[in-house]
Amino acid sequence: MKKILCLFSSCCLLFISGCSSIDVLNPKGNQGNEQLSLIKLSIYIMMIVIFVVVALFIWFVYKYRARPGHQPLPRQENRNKKLEITWTVLPFILLFILAVPMVKSVFGEAQKDNSDAMKIKVTASEFWWKFEYPGVGVVTSQELHLPKDQRVVLELHSKDVIHSFWVPQLGGKQDLIPGRTNKLAITPEKIGTYQGKCAEFCGTGHSYMRFTVKVDSKQDYEKWLDHMKKDQSSGQKLSADETEGRKLFGKNCLSCHATSGLIHADKKGPNLADFGDRDHVAGVLKNTPPNLKQWLKDPEKVKPGSHMPKPEGLSEHDYTALSHYLQTLKK
Ligand code: CUA
Repeated sequence: MKKILCLFSSCCLLFISGCSSIDVLNPKGNQGNEQLSLIKLSIYIMMIVIFVVVALFIWFVYKYRARPGHQPLPRQENRNKKLEITWTVLPFILLFILAVPMVKSVFGEAQKDNSDAMKIKVTASEFWWKFEYPGVGVVTSQELHLPKDQRVVLELHSKDVIHSFWVPQLGGKQDLIPGRTNKLAITPEKIGTYQGKCAEFCGTGHSYMRFTVKVDSKQDYEKWLDHMKKDQSSGQKLSADETEGRKLFGKNCLSCHATSGLIHADKKGPNLADFGDRDHVAGVLKNTPPNLKQWLKDPEKVKPGSHMPKPEGLSEHDYTALSHYLQTLKK
């Protein structure tokens, strides 16, 4: 009995581990709302179909059950015109009911005026996200900041393989394809933090290719932009530990990571200008100094397939100093 219980609970755990913090059916933006109503409509239609099929199934099982005196095989039918027409026409009608609002929604979205929309360039690479705000010359990674009630057009690019941008609460799911620019428009309507992830299998680190969208009030968004434009490394009072971390950063990390959020100063790795304010390390671990240390010590273990090299020759104390310094990159 104990063994069975144990097996059962491990199976349950296995299924639960597939769940993530991504909220799929709780939209906070107008595109997400529209998509939810389409999902609901298709579920209602499917439920009607399932209800009719199950009811007929039960009725037939009862009606044609084996009874004494019955022949073992019922009369075999072929070519029943009425039935054939019914099961050909009915799905067409159902598809039509589904297609009308769907087409209306897709074309309605495509025809919307984007002249006032904010443009953000999104670049996906194995296995992280870069967000550029060309209008204001700011760049960030892993956390996309958006002002509330502002229509945003995301221009989606990929550096290597096909990825897919997916923040279900704000709407959409759009592929990022190398050599091509796809567009996705969203209008967040509620202040909050929303989880997103890559929704197209792209390699070993695919399931860790997460990101966060922070929807701020207009004021807070402007504050964030101002902060990103500032030089993070100056004007801060650093402790001896943090100063040492900064030196180590200059020696080991600065060739790939910028600590300024200005586009022209950006480097090939994820931008770290507001790192201390971020929720996650590498998009997966909670942003705490011990977790950051864990990531720095063995990136491959935390995010398989990541292109982040393991810094060589650093002592335990060096990792601590480095992780403390990175936490100072904040507002
Ligand atoms: Cu990128 Cu999956």
